[in-house]
Amino acid sequence: MIPPLYYRKDIPFFYNKTETEFQQDVYERFDPMVIRQTALHLADDIWDKYPFQAVIDFGKPYLPKGKISSILEIGCGTGRWIANLAQVYPNSTCWGIDYSYQMLKQAHEYWVKGHTIYLDFSTKGFAKNLVLTGQQLKNLYFGLAKASDLPFEDASQDIIIHSFLLDRVDDLKKALMEMHRILVSGGKMIFVTPLNFQKATDWEQYSPPTKIHQLLLELNFEILEWTEDLTVFEPLDARGNAICWKCVGVVVVKK
Ligand SMILES: C[S@@+](CC[C@H](N)C(=O)[O-])C[C@H]1O[C@@H](n2cnc3c(N)ncnc32)[C@H](O)[C@@H]1O
Repeated sequence: MIPPLYYRKDIPFFYNKTETEFQQDVYERFDPMVIRQTALHLADDIWDKYPFQAVIDFGKPYLPKGKISSILEIGCGTGRWIANLAQVYPNSTCWGIDYSYQMLKQAHEYWVKGHTIYLDFSTKGFAKNLVLTGQQLKNLYFGLAKASDLPFEDASQDIIIHSFLLDRVDDLKKALMEMHRILVSGGKMIFVTPLNFQKATDWEQYSPPTKIHQLLLELNFEILEWTEDLTVFEPLDARGNAICWKCVGVVVVKK
């Protein structure tokens, strides 16, 4: 792994994020976004069940039964999926990489430091003081980097996972090339994405999803699983309003 440029609190920065980039990033600018992600992924008690369980369940059958030395989640947000795998594989080194310091701070405090997070989600009808008790996972690390410039050596990661990321990256092809570069040969990448692009150029380049299927083949991935009808419900409030995400679920192997 390449050494970080600097640390902010306990979070290593592998990318020198400019003040303008901080300001342009919705996950830095809008506290409500970070609060929503924290509630969604860490406040299980307010939901019937963990809302993104479908993402974790999708990946499960494709994970190796034996030992894995390294697992990486890109765009990990508040770290739920990678923390789940860090517990399933306690002898693996697990990294969560994200572009937002605010997300990483929550993830690190909750999953690594074992802090209690007090969350006010009352604007969505829940109690004012939700108490989220953290854990102290010893094999989990969080750092700031961009998906298109990953701070890992070539062929260094056994498993890469990401969810709700691909339609948010600035350069989708470059990000997939980076992921291919750092995977070991025979390593797997598992991802779920609604392909809810934010830019017209991304819609032109990558919709319908068969274009991404083709791109993965061109980048020398072998496709093990491809489904276009994975539904994920993202609850919004205490009344039960929700967004229905129509996701593509993919498992590929680096040839
Ligand atoms: C919609 S959230 C998804 C978070 C989580 N993976 C989930 O499934 O809920 C997108 C996340 O990707 C991060 N992100 C966006 N662009 C990124 C990039 N170029 N490199 C790394 N992370 C990025 C954001 O900061 C945010 O935490």
